[in-house]
Amino acid sequence: MKILRTKEAVNSELSILKNNQISIGFVPTMGALHDGHLDLIKKAKLYSDYVVVSIFINPTQFNNAEDFAKYPQTLDKDMELLDKTGVDYLFLPELEEIYPNKPRLKMLFEGLDNTLEGEFRPGHFSGVGIVVAKLLNIVKPHIAFFGQKDLQQVAIIRQLVADLSMDVKIISLPTVREGSGLALSSRNMRLSEKEKEKALIIIHSLSFGKSELLSGKDWLSTREEIKEKFTVQDIKLEYFELVNSHTMDKLEKIDHTIPSSICIAAYIGKVRLIDNITVTED
Ligand code: PAJ
Repeated sequence: MKILRTKEAVNSELSILKNNQISIGFVPTMGALHDGHLDLIKKAKLYSDYVVVSIFINPTQFNNAEDFAKYPQTLDKDMELLDKTGVDYLFLPELEEIYPNKPRLKMLFEGLDNTLEGEFRPGHFSGVGIVVAKLLNIVKPHIAFFGQKDLQQVAIIRQLVADLSMDVKIISLPTVREGSGLALSSRNMRLSEKEKEKALIIIHSLSFGKSELLSGKDWLSTREEIKEKFTVQDIKLEYFELVNSHTMDKLEKIDHTIPSSICIAAYIGKVRLIDNITVTED
């Protein structure tokens, strides 16, 4: 695996490949890699000739200084994993390479970024949009891969690419979970064993919500029931919402003609976790 640290290095390596009709698959990450990331990379290998992975902890998408400061960093282990998985190039830029100046640009994704993560993490999706646009402009891949674990992020990136007429195909892939059902996340490294057990309330609530909806139960009362469970266990629940999986519009009842998901964000101790489950497919 070759490590590229600058835009120029990426350009000179990849332009030769592109000129020879070789397809490039790209998986952007913030490191602290787990099997969810590796699954995206394996799919990228299936769909493209060469695979580029980036590791860059993007400060502009963190609206909480402590979350940024405590974001796990496991670079040596990450590089070993990437090498073993057969990644061709790791783009590993320094902060100044991506942000030589503090950007004045702010991105708004009308209708997509004012609920869920956008509501509780103001400015988050502007930061995601800016860094993903920069990374796609630098790598210029044919296909880029993202996880449905961050469902709203996928909707935002699809919109970004469409609105800026970027010539890249976006593929999103299902969430990889531990055997227990806990969605893999870099932030799980900050959980104690006890907290990991406590965190199972997240997937249990999503599965319960889905089965209640599919058996015809009323959504608003199901949501109240879930909220009550979190209150009783003294776990901070930020949201538990049924939404249109593409537009992120909140839904008050199940509609089998609309693709829908339940999305959740909750604090297990000091760690904020998000997850979602598909209720009705496209
Ligand atoms: P990061 O959290 O490192 O995630 C990188 C990619 O892995 C994202 O597309 C995310 O959705 C996916 N991913 C995370 N957990 C997953 C899981 N359990 N199963 C499947 N895929 C999973 O998301 C980001 O970084 C950043 O916002 C980024 C897009 C890199 C921009 O900075």
